[in-house]
Amino acid sequence: LRFADRDASFPTATGTEGETAFEIKTLLSGTGLVTIDPGFGNTAACRSDITYIDGAAGILRYRGYPIEELAQQATFLEVCHLLLRGELPKPGQLDAFAAELTAQSALPEGFERVIDAFPSGTHPMITLAAAVNALAAFHTENADPTDDDQVERATIALLAQLPAIAARIHRTSAGLEPVATDSSLAYVENFLNMTFGKTEGEKGPDPLLAKAMDLLLTLHADHELNCSTSTVRVVGSSGATVFASVAAGINALSGPLHGGANQAVLEMLEQIQNTEGGIDTFIEQVKDRESKTRLMGFGHRVYKNFDPRSREIKKLAQEILNQPGANDPLFDLALQLEERALSDSYFVDRKLYPNVDFYTGVIYRALGFSTEMFTVLFALGRLPGWLAHWHELRKDPDTRIARPRQLYTGPAQRSVAAR
Ligand code: MLT
Repeated sequence: LRFADRDASFPTATGTEGETAFEIKTLLSGTGLVTIDPGFGNTAACRSDITYIDGAAGILRYRGYPIEELAQQATFLEVCHLLLRGELPKPGQLDAFAAELTAQSALPEGFERVIDAFPSGTHPMITLAAAVNALAAFHTENADPTDDDQVERATIALLAQLPAIAARIHRTSAGLEPVATDSSLAYVENFLNMTFGKTEGEKGPDPLLAKAMDLLLTLHADHELNCSTSTVRVVGSSGATVFASVAAGINALSGPLHGGANQAVLEMLEQIQNTEGGIDTFIEQVKDRESKTRLMGFGHRVYKNFDPRSREIKKLAQEILNQPGANDPLFDLALQLEERALSDSYFVDRKLYPNVDFYTGVIYRALGFSTEMFTVLFALGRLPGWLAHWHELRKDPDTRIARPRQLYTGPAQRSVAAR
């Protein structure tokens, strides 16, 4: 408004705030010189010390550490410590952190009933969001978001117990008996053990499986202000508990354009497999904007270059799926689809590259997860990021309750009598 007032060539707008903003927006965008982002002033905009992304250069760092280095040289638990406490842990600190989580890894007594109450066929993300929300009722002694000690205990409880929740959801939806937590196992191994059970004679899950799971969780640990993280911050800004805020984030993640995309990629690959003309026909459908067919797992709002996570995930997919006997035709199809898309100017000109979701589905499938569990695994990885954002917001003295701006675009005042 100030800009418009200053420039003699623009009339000073009058009217209500909503109408004025709308007029000015129309006026300015009509010049072609200015674009007004309707998200400007949205409460999602924030300062944060956690994650840095340069989408044009394809850079992602957690607290300054490049994601590639963390993927290759740190474990998921170390990354959780980094995100939550600001630093990679020293060996003694890591042991203490792991012990804190192990001590709380079992579900609270009676909580199982919450998960088991859902009808069979319920999507795991529905159960997961409801379970995390309900967890607050089992941690009432740590429910005061203004008390530092309680908040810390609630945070550790949620991080410690999400694997048991996710594993129980996996087993109940597959009609399998739940497996109890095993305090002799490390965080990721314990999750895999609760999910798949112990193989006869083995001490824990297959090390390659554990390594793959650890890496996938690490690569999903944070991604600054995406849809779910901004949801966690918005809900958290009202003073809601960490359980309520994270449950809201899980719901945001469930959509096919966010965390649900890895499930959608696999469904797309299955659809291509069953389409006459295969990849070529599918690519033509995508290019025909009218058909509304989307190349799932490709393109990203912030990356106009390779998503650095997708390179690591592709390497992992090759390691897992090139093992003897592990062949998956959907992986071969994904490789061909990527090659085909990246050699087509339609996708290259639009800077559409594979994103984090493109190869995760084929890996999860190789690890033995059902397609509907994929987004639950994303949530398990993203939890430390959500928690770190919730804490950052809570500690910031400038935090105010979220109140997104809206630009009113409806009719001006009307009279009911004149209808
Ligand atoms: C994510 O990791 O959250 C996704 O890439 C979505 C996003 O960042 O917008």
